[in-house]
Amino acid sequence: YTLPPPPPPPPSPKPRKGFASKNIERDFHTIQRFKKLITIDPLGIKKKWKGTDVCNYPGFKCATVPDQKVTALAAADFNGYFFGGRDLQLTGFLDQLPDLSIFHANSNNFTGPVPKSIGTSRVRYLFEVDLSNNKYSGGFPMSVLQATNLTFLDIRFNSFSGSVPAEVFTLDLDVLFINNNKFSQQLPGNLGSTPVLYLTLANNKFSGPIPRSIGNARNLLEVLFLNNELEGCLPYEIGKLDKTVVFDVGSNKLTGPIPLSFACLEKMEILNLAMNKFYGPVPEMVCDLPRLANLSLSYNYFTQVGHECRKLISKRILDVRMNCILDLPGQRSAADCAKFFSKQRTCPNERSLNYIPCRKGGYSSSFETSDQRSMAPAAAPITYNALKPHKLRL
Ligand SMILES: *[C@@H]1O[C@H](CO)[C@@H](O)[C@H](O)[C@H]1NC(C)=O
Ligand SMILES: *[C@@H]1O[C@H](CO)[C@@H](O)[C@H](O)[C@H]1NC(C)=O
Ligand SMILES: *[C@@H]1O[C@H](CO)[C@@H](O)[C@H](O)[C@H]1NC(C)=O
Repeated sequence: YTLPPPPPPPPSPKPRKGFASKNIERDFHTIQRFKKLITIDPLGIKKKWKGTDVCNYPGFKCATVPDQKVTALAAADFNGYFFGGRDLQLTGFLDQLPDLSIFHANSNNFTGPVPKSIGTSRVRYLFEVDLSNNKYSGGFPMSVLQATNLTFLDIRFNSFSGSVPAEVFTLDLDVLFINNNKFSQQLPGNLGSTPVLYLTLANNKFSGPIPRSIGNARNLLEVLFLNNELEGCLPYEIGKLDKTVVFDVGSNKLTGPIPLSFACLEKMEILNLAMNKFYGPVPEMVCDLPRLANLSLSYNYFTQVGHECRKLISKRILDVRMNCILDLPGQRSAADCAKFFSKQRTCPNERSLNYIPCRKGGYSSSFETSDQRSMAPAAAPITYNALKPHKLRL
């Protein structure tokens, strides 16, 4: 069995000379122990971690800790420090800095396991954890589930594998970046419980359909599911995501038509369905979405585009290369298309694909269109930057 790590010693009334508080004095010793594990330090950071003025060590910041009203170590930001070592673990460090609220360690060589007790009442104010682009492997770091004050969780660009526990989607997060790992599982049915604004699952091996519950995730601004092994038809509930600006499911194994509910995605700017097995006509109402700046439908089996969609093609907003739209150039061969359509293809609950939740009555009778496009400038999407390993500014 493993012993639980010892609790941090209770702060006694007065710090030794030179320390801003008893809490800082305690954390000084933790940092000095941690220093010994860092044997590779190309920027020469750790040699500046000496003396009692811990609050001015590079990478650390102090603030008044709310419950004890004393100066305390509030943030450790090692982004881009390239720390390395033979067994550079955070156990004995992150779990022994009980006043920490922010821990950032993008682009270092930290390795597993992630400390078991970063949640519960130990690191009680921890609300940002960034372990991206390190050397973590093994299963999902379960200790983050106890860190119920977390709002930002970024573990992208590691080698985590296995499944992501469903509980992650009930954490009260704003940001969840788990892209570029080796997660493989069907997306949990409760995915839509997530309150996040930014969700990137890209570049893993997630499989199965996109859960219908996604329609409940009404805070979503950017959704990056590209380059996984997702299958099945798109649920019409995606059309309820009326704040979403980016929806990218490119390079999966998804199929079916585009649900007409996508006509409700009023804020959508970047919609990528390329490199899947979608088919059917491209709904004119989708091409008519007011803010669309990039509609990528290439390498599918779409069969028709109408007047509105053709306008987008000429503006280079819509890409329909390599589909089955036989009167357009750059399409699949008639033989490829015939082969694809020789198999009968259906979606569960076909009727729902015609449902338009934002319209009175839920169904459209006419395909009326409008040329009025919103003039509001498109906010630059943020999360595509999460697909590169370096640190991220949100
Ligand atoms: C991190 O590990 C990689 C190989 O695993 C190595 O090439 C690189 O030099 C290491 N960097 C540091 C800072 O230790
Ligand atoms: C979350 O923060 C509150 C104070 O804002 C604290 O009382 C509580 O113990 C923290 N919860 C956890 C699980 O750390
Ligand atoms: C549109 O999105 C696709 C897929 O993400 C990308 O490959 C392409 O470069 C984008 N086009 C423009 C003009 O930004």
